[in-house]
Amino acid sequence: MKTIRDFDLNNKKVIIRVDFNVPIKDGVITDDTRIKESLKTINYAISNNAKVILMSHLGRIKEEGDKVKNTLKPVSVRLSELLDKEVKFIPATRGSELEDAINNLNNGDVLLMENTRFEDLPDKKESKNDPELGKYWASLGDIYINDAFGTAHRAHASNVGIASNLESGIGFLIEKELENLLPAINDPKRPFTVILGGAKVSDKIGVIENLVIKADYILIGGGMAFTFLKASGVEIGNSLLDEENVEFCKKILKEHKDKIILPIDVVTDLKECFITDITKEEKGLDIGPKTVKLFKQYLDNSKTIIWNGPVGMFEEEKYSNGTKGICEILKNIDAVKIAGGGDTASAVKNFGYEPAFTHISTGGGASLELLEGKVLPGIDIIK
Ligand code: 3PG
Repeated sequence: MKTIRDFDLNNKKVIIRVDFNVPIKDGVITDDTRIKESLKTINYAISNNAKVILMSHLGRIKEEGDKVKNTLKPVSVRLSELLDKEVKFIPATRGSELEDAINNLNNGDVLLMENTRFEDLPDKKESKNDPELGKYWASLGDIYINDAFGTAHRAHASNVGIASNLESGIGFLIEKELENLLPAINDPKRPFTVILGGAKVSDKIGVIENLVIKADYILIGGGMAFTFLKASGVEIGNSLLDEENVEFCKKILKEHKDKIILPIDVVTDLKECFITDITKEEKGLDIGPKTVKLFKQYLDNSKTIIWNGPVGMFEEEKYSNGTKGICEILKNIDAVKIAGGGDTASAVKNFGYEPAFTHISTGGGASLELLEGKVLPGIDIIK
């Protein structure tokens, strides 16, 4: 697969698809990780005398009113600070203002186009990969670099559409994500342990099906653990239950009972107790300290660890000890340690454990789909 290094960028109009889908509250960016992670590719293009045209989506655009809160303007300001350089923001996704601005770029200049999903009104041209839109955007540049790992599981006009019409390669961020994630999933050093959490079993079915074959152990926490516990015959009280997937959990437990490790104790809204002592009124919200110890036994010997999904409702201090406990264990282990998924990444960062990890993926849905063993269309098209 071609990377940005394989192109002569000098004097070329280089379209770089980045994932600047960052959280913004009242016009303020609350986590700029994805912008920072894009800098290597953008700086490389600048220093190789490219005319840099950046494209990204932000949020979802379903009606006119969504446009105001999803403009990329604040992102252009933050990007300009991080690059220490002017970033021309063009509040359009097509037309003469955009085309003139591109034609007036000098080598090393950077332009950011408005949110690609503004093209989703009226008829989802971006999200449905309208062939004319992909062709039009491709006509604005000489080379296309996809560096939007977080969006690689989507087949949209701004990735698959443009890449179908222009010489293409991947940027440094996608390269880094693949170099870390693929060997860990497909050729892991063993023992290979997966930690799965998050609310719903339904979100993780594909991951469980794919990884239960490849991994040595799957440690399950978070809301999804209760559906597994229910399937194993435990009374879970008021805890989260994914009724539709109880049978799936039963099947997995039956077929892989030595690999699936479930919590043995829990922190509920009322107390801390053994899993068998949850009463009807109680709701489990975090794994308990005995479970953290149990998980430690598996993690201590592991050589590859992939973690997707917090093991408790970590946003609330009193239910954060399970997730913090896992972070603390991982800090002291010498292994390939990968965290993926938006919530897991933000928990790890908020608790200050970023340095403990080999890699923290910028992809939520995209890293999940890689864990499911799926092909990511935004990357496949470059191949
Ligand atoms: C993400 O945040 O997962 C990506 O930017 C993709 O966003 P989407 O789920 O709105 O397509």
